[in-house]
Amino acid sequence: MTTRTRILTGITTTGTPHLGNYAGAIRPAILASQDANADSFYFLADYHALIKCDDPQRIQRSRMEIAATWLAGGLDVNRVTFYRQSDIPEIPELTWLLTCVAAKGLLNRAHAYKASVDKNLENGEDPDAGITMGLYSYPVLMAADILMFNAHKVPVGRDQIQHVEMARDIGQRFNHLFGNGKEFFTMPEALIEESVATLPGLDGRKMSKSYDNTIPLFTSAKDMKDAISRIVTDSRAPGEAKDPDNSHLFTLYQAFATKVQEEEFRGELLQGLGWGEAKNRLFQLLDGQLGEARERYHQLMSRPSDMEDLLLIGARKARAVAAPFLAELREAVGLRSFVNPVAVAATTKKKAAKAARFVSFREDDGSFRFRLLAAEGEQLLLSRNFADGKTAGAVTKQLQSGQALDVRSEALSFSVWLEGAAVADSPAFADSASRDAAIEALRVALTPIED
Ligand code: TRP
Repeated sequence: MTTRTRILTGITTTGTPHLGNYAGAIRPAILASQDANADSFYFLADYHALIKCDDPQRIQRSRMEIAATWLAGGLDVNRVTFYRQSDIPEIPELTWLLTCVAAKGLLNRAHAYKASVDKNLENGEDPDAGITMGLYSYPVLMAADILMFNAHKVPVGRDQIQHVEMARDIGQRFNHLFGNGKEFFTMPEALIEESVATLPGLDGRKMSKSYDNTIPLFTSAKDMKDAISRIVTDSRAPGEAKDPDNSHLFTLYQAFATKVQEEEFRGELLQGLGWGEAKNRLFQLLDGQLGEARERYHQLMSRPSDMEDLLLIGARKARAVAAPFLAELREAVGLRSFVNPVAVAATTKKKAAKAARFVSFREDDGSFRFRLLAAEGEQLLLSRNFADGKTAGAVTKQLQSGQALDVRSEALSFSVWLEGAAVADSPAFADSASRDAAIEALRVALTPIED
């Protein structure tokens, strides 16, 4: 069975997305997530945001605006795992495990850190003046984001390539130290979309908040129109032929037009279309393509609790992958239960069987369920709901009876069936190999002890 390509990327939540972010990152990511062979993890990198910004209002506003932008732009949360980094406590925990193996020398070489040091030196200051441990450790947190989900491909801008390389470096070190021949972490690759437009801003330089030359995306039609009217053009008068290939207004148009629209516009410019009218055309094109999404955006922003719910569901999906994996990593480094301090791999069948246990509990609605926990406490199974404790108990008895287990895999999880009905489900796994390993562990755990 082939595993699907896991694509993962984070968006630092410090600003309001503009047209350049949309064309350069958001639109291609949403398109990529529609590929049936892709398993996409997109998240709000709000822990990263704290490194750059100490204004709580701005952090909160940006998180909401970015979430709303991606959702309004058509991100399908049923297809992708869309979450806030700060809703996944496993991320900072993994960050620490990785911090303990990351070479300080590696982090000394990070571009962002070095740039800050250079600036301090230039100003005759202490090299580390104003540099926080957050900035310094930024690449380790990012490595945890990526390695936690064993991402294959990480779509990023060029400035982030080094960080993805560092994630490989740190992951490899961990694999080497603790893997015992097993590769815990997949080696990620940065994905730089050559074909994706880097949009020019109002003044023709790259559209960027730091140049104050952006076109707003979803704030309002009027804001968009006002910004477009400020696009710098040459001084050719209406009636004079324009040079489309040297006009960033044309480049902006191109990024949103069909080939036919583009050629038509080119022709008109060559024939002397006035810049005022050209700006009007650009506005019409953008408004036509983004107007509906803008309305969805404002709806989402006016109902933050809907977004909160969606993101919490996303966090649950992400944690279903992260939690069992982190349990394995804790085990690997020696953070193990005192009760059964033997690593999973080294456990004999007998010990595993002895130590696995059923824990039953009652749901708020009165129904009965149980979990099957492995020796180390990780969850092997969570049962469906049963009307009464007796039925639940009968099911656990049958599972331990030694009869052949009816295990059915589906995607990255599996369920256990008894008499034609699913009675319990596994957590979701990062890949099919971990799923198959868990099925094996389950069989071992449910094998009766013969002595
Ligand atoms: N550092 C990235 C940026 O500023 C954001 C980010 C955080 C990220 N964690 C990530 C990107 C993990 C890709 C993968 O653009």
